[in-house]
Amino acid sequence: MELSTGVIAEHLRRGGTSVVLRLEDTELPCLLYWGTDLGDVETGPILEATARPVGDSVVYANPVVALLPRHSSGWLGRPGLVGSRAGRSWSVSFDAVTHDVTEACTPGWPDGAPGAVRVRSTGTDAVNGLVVTTELELHASGLLRLRAGVRNTGPDGYEVVSLLPALPVGEQANELLDMTGRHSRERTPQRRPFDQGSWVREAWGGRPGHDSATMLCAGESGFGFRRGRVWGVHLAWSGNQVLTAERSPSGWRLLRGGELLLPGERVLAHDEEYWSPWLVASWGEGLDELSSRVHRFLRARPQHPRSARPVLLNVWEAVYFDHDLPHLLDLAEKAAAVGVERYVLDDGWFRGRRDDTAGLGDWYVDDGVWPDGLAPLTDRVHELGMQFGLWFEPEMVSLDSDLAREHPEWLFGTGRGPGVPSRQQHVLDLGHPGAFDHVLERMSELVARYGVDFVKWDHNRPLVDAGHQPTGVPGVHVQTLATYRLMDALKSRFPGLEIESCCGGGGRIDLGVMERCDRVWVSDNIDAHERQRMQRWTSLLLPPELLGTHVGSARDHTTGRSLDLDFRAGTAVWGHLGVEWDLSAVSDTDLDELAEWVAVHKSLRDLLHTGDVVRADPTDPAVQVEGVVAADRSEAAYRVAVVEHPLTDPPGRITLPGLDPGRTYRVELVAPSDGAVSPADAPAWVKGVELGGRVLEEVGLVCPRLAVDTLVLLRVTAVRRSAGR
Ligand code: DGJ
Repeated sequence: MELSTGVIAEHLRRGGTSVVLRLEDTELPCLLYWGTDLGDVETGPILEATARPVGDSVVYANPVVALLPRHSSGWLGRPGLVGSRAGRSWSVSFDAVTHDVTEACTPGWPDGAPGAVRVRSTGTDAVNGLVVTTELELHASGLLRLRAGVRNTGPDGYEVVSLLPALPVGEQANELLDMTGRHSRERTPQRRPFDQGSWVREAWGGRPGHDSATMLCAGESGFGFRRGRVWGVHLAWSGNQVLTAERSPSGWRLLRGGELLLPGERVLAHDEEYWSPWLVASWGEGLDELSSRVHRFLRARPQHPRSARPVLLNVWEAVYFDHDLPHLLDLAEKAAAVGVERYVLDDGWFRGRRDDTAGLGDWYVDDGVWPDGLAPLTDRVHELGMQFGLWFEPEMVSLDSDLAREHPEWLFGTGRGPGVPSRQQHVLDLGHPGAFDHVLERMSELVARYGVDFVKWDHNRPLVDAGHQPTGVPGVHVQTLATYRLMDALKSRFPGLEIESCCGGGGRIDLGVMERCDRVWVSDNIDAHERQRMQRWTSLLLPPELLGTHVGSARDHTTGRSLDLDFRAGTAVWGHLGVEWDLSAVSDTDLDELAEWVAVHKSLRDLLHTGDVVRADPTDPAVQVEGVVAADRSEAAYRVAVVEHPLTDPPGRITLPGLDPGRTYRVELVAPSDGAVSPADAPAWVKGVELGGRVLEEVGLVCPRLAVDTLVLLRVTAVRRSAGR
């Protein structure tokens, strides 16, 4: 549909979501409404209902704020497009804007996801020689995506300083929620009022970072998992980035996001264009609904991992750099015996890598440590019926490596050498074709030779002073795209190869990298007490099958906290399960218990990896309840974890959200199997009970008197339709 005159309202409806846009012929779309499905309504009156009186100044009133807010229209916040031709052409206005609404999106996923509708609007600015485009998509899941592009039609170079699309949210959004953290303490939620001004979350390290906002949400005061209207945005991009929440004196509340460009990083030649990464946006009546749209969107992708997620063993915290073949083989035997399906050899296998000071970039098996190559290990792993995974850090280089000695020009730098080290390492500039080809060829050779099924792709140094030598021009944008190309090339050379996005733990968790990765390493911290929080909040963006969750040692290597195996394993089963523990030093009793937990995971994994994720809003934060409910609500599983000493004794009731209110369910305690709750501490229902879905969500069940850092898993099965319905 081509519209060129007048002002109209376009109503998009998908997945329980309505989006109403104001379209006119000299402005990019303005979002008037985004939220619950309005039904088949007449849209014209919505234009009238939402038209803002302007008094004597459009500058104060901002009657129309487009998806790319324009300074020239009177918007006094950050403009959507900031750029210039050495000081000229910095204020954009449009001679004409055309809007194209299509059912089918551009070919190739994720652009061609079935069932989506897209509004592509193109504004031409002849005075400044620019063509500016926005693309807004509403997907079958009810998820929104927005991006913007700018093309330089002028004769000389146009520098894009920032391109930051904006999505207005409802005026009831009074509170902001996002995440922060640090290495080994990722995804810690933080809240604040949505006051006037801007709340800005930037990432300048060439990756979202351990402190990544991940999702920036704005909602009704006190919104929780199950209550309160809330909107949220995430940037599908693995490089420098910014998310902002901006509230103007004229009453607009915007959620925005885009790439942070370094000075001079994107100067467009004639006819060249730049696109911002996708800003992925969702809403819900509570965070569960918001998050379920993202999960459904991800699960609809053709590349989404659908095969049973293999339980893995990662040897890092078992051996670190101490690669001793008999020990590694013993781990393989023990792992296979407890039900592990994939064995991952971590850092330390390549030339010169005896510790973290040397070797990165020299992707050849160290023949001092591995005189017969990796085959003695990989052959046995395969004989035991397990897949084999191998650790790489493809974008990194140690100064003490043949690679750095032979090609110092392949390291990033801005004229004063390679800059500050971090973990004794530097970043390899994949923008040099030679560097890119070297890494691709080395990885390909090893993947082919050893039948590698899985690459753990690490990234332990932020991009600081990331200048492309010899000029020193910024290279983060190119590096981000080159990393994507490297992953894509490997995946196309080795169909079925899986990749884990690890970044010293959870420093690169975003939907850009997840277009080519099959799971993320949530955090280097595998202390189950900490993981309860980190996994819960990471799952706001990613469903459980994409979260790497491991059972670690009894005494955690990061925090020094000691926890029972039931709690460690019961925490790790709620994701893509792994083991990262020196099984050769574990008692037979513990190995048997671990095997039981692996079996519990396998019995639950189909449900866990396809069901809707739900979390109860805690009345006491000491007691955390989360669950997965099958799409047809015929079954569910819940985990009840006590993570602090509860305020009351007994701890009060828990509710099981997300079930069918019209069905009766049988609730059974399935793990731990050894009576984690003593008879004196167990409510009557733990022996098994039948209750309606509505009763389980509204009335709830008394929580067992669990000790701190213990948990129980419940299996819930529909037995019949409830009477009276
Ligand atoms: C950081 C990762 O997050 C760890 O799991 C491990 O792979 C080390 N790097 C290896 O150097």
